Amino acid sequence: MIKFDVVTIFPRMVIAGLAEGVVSRGIVRGLIDLAVHDLRDHTADRHRSVDDVPYGGGPGMVMKPEPLARAVENICAKRGTPDAVVLLTPQGRPFRQAEAERMSGLSHIALLCGRYEGMDERVRELVATDELSIGDYVLSGGELPALVVIDAISRLIPGVVGDEQSVEQDSFAGGVLDYPHYTRPAEFAGLKVPEVLLSGHHADVRRWRRKTALARTLERRPDLLDDAALDDEDRALLKEIRESRAGTAESGSSEADPPSRKRRVR
Ligand code: ADE
Repeated sequence: MIKFDVVTIFPRMVIAGLAEGVVSRGIVRGLIDLAVHDLRDHTADRHRSVDDVPYGGGPGMVMKPEPLARAVENICAKRGTPDAVVLLTPQGRPFRQAEAERMSGLSHIALLCGRYEGMDERVRELVATDELSIGDYVLSGGELPALVVIDAISRLIPGVVGDEQSVEQDSFAGGVLDYPHYTRPAEFAGLKVPEVLLSGHHADVRRWRRKTALARTLERRPDLLDDAALDDEDRALLKEIRESRAGTAESGSSEADPPSRKRRVR
């Protein structure tokens, strides 16, 4: 069982985002305990204000520290002290699969969603234990990032996704991208499923999948290969891929995306 607490000024946005799919199933199965807190319930003034003008001037508003601190105190009192209090911000450390794996080992995570120009710096200093960014772009708030973080962590909790094997084989699980998938029909719009997948040779299928996964990673995200868990077979496959690429460089073809597959169905 993993516990999440989300603090937001848009509770309905967070609840709606988790009402269906894998996380909702985890909640129903009793594997995830999720509570969403309206930041305005922790304000002290008549207007329930959560933001104020920035010291030093300039555009936009800044989220006040007191309601956020009180919201976290309330979580500690009612739901126990979280192992991590995560602030979602573009200034945070990049949220990657390895971070999701680490956090899936925690039992209680609180997530603070920012809005406006940002939060008073003292929230970061006094309340947050972690700051995470889900990518190098600026969203209007931390609600979507909180949903992303909760989803990525939840699917690593045993029993949340029905098929454990599929989680282990996901993109990034071994530090590389996923291989291409096919289902019936065997031919669609003139495109055939690769012969090896129809062959019934499990060892050949496994090798083809690993090779296409490595080829895609090399082509699209070579940066991932620096940290990927590669064995001797992987290194041999990568050598093959690089050699065949060198041979076909002029035609622009590659293992990951043969030119014929770039055609679109109209
Ligand atoms: N809030 C706004 N943009 C964000 C991002 N990219 N990641 C996390 N929190 C954010």
